[in-house]
Amino acid sequence: MTTRHLLTGTELTRDDLLAVLRRAHELKAADASRRAGDYDAAADPGAHSLAGRSVGLIFQKPSTRTRISMEVGVRELGAHPLLLRPDEMQLSRGESVKDTALVLSRHVHAIGIRTNADALLEELAAEGTIPVVNLLTDGHHPCQAVADLLTLQEAFPDRLGTDGGLDDLHLAYVGDGNNVARSLALVGAIGGLKVTVVAPDGYQLEPDTTPAILASDPTAGVAGADALYADVWVSMGDTDSDERRVALRDYGLTDALLDAARPGAIALHCLPAHPGEEITAEVLYGERERIWDQAENRRHAQKALLEWVLRAGPFAD
Ligand code: CP
Ligand code: NVA
Repeated sequence: MTTRHLLTGTELTRDDLLAVLRRAHELKAADASRRAGDYDAAADPGAHSLAGRSVGLIFQKPSTRTRISMEVGVRELGAHPLLLRPDEMQLSRGESVKDTALVLSRHVHAIGIRTNADALLEELAAEGTIPVVNLLTDGHHPCQAVADLLTLQEAFPDRLGTDGGLDDLHLAYVGDGNNVARSLALVGAIGGLKVTVVAPDGYQLEPDTTPAILASDPTAGVAGADALYADVWVSMGDTDSDERRVALRDYGLTDALLDAARPGAIALHCLPAHPGEEITAEVLYGERERIWDQAENRRHAQKALLEWVLRAGPFAD
């Protein structure tokens, strides 16, 4: 049996992705009772789906949402999360990625990792024998994109295909053509979502390989879009922050830009936000935002993804 990984999100077929999203909705429904304080494990389909397993979580870059949602989500599935700080691992003192992968494969059942180079993630997956989940690299953020599709499904329940497909929806990402934009384009295409990336010259996605429509004019680029999406202008690891703020200054998510999209359009942001830069405070906390649902949905989507890579719950063989 091949080991399932989630390195870019393109490992998912359309059927896989839509099944993961259906499962995430189910897990979220069970979460309501947890929030209300009357949690009944017998009514939670995910309560024990990863019982007896452990998941290693390596964060080589800062994180609020991904770390919290993974750690809590792993525990909610009945498994044990191990937070592995890079400065406490021998990896930081020169132990190889290969040896790290071999040892982790003997103790835990899956690895989630946030790191810089996609090559490190690929090496971890190639050398180990357990699933590896990308929790953000310089190139990709697939967990974010899957959770964002869940948020779109919730926002537009009447616009989905009978299989939950997003073929009738259009998302316009405005700003830096970065890891989040790339994952929205790749994972969105699998789910049928039309994605436009609106970015200035020098900040656009790779035209030859992306399934997204590429545009440079914000007002024209968002025409007809059901959702406008912002991310930071300066990602972790970017060293040219002043230059970026100048190049991207006309690419902020404002109420005026939302007015140029389809009536009823929503605002999305993966967070952390910098109000006054890539999004205004009016949009971030306004009536058209679905941003805080988006942040919550990280946990529900990742729980379903963990079950998928580990062939557990509804994904058991
Ligand atoms: N959106 C996101 O990945 O947030 P964190 O960097 O806080 O994990
Ligand atoms: N593009 C951002 C996303 C943060 C969640 C970064 O990589 O820093």
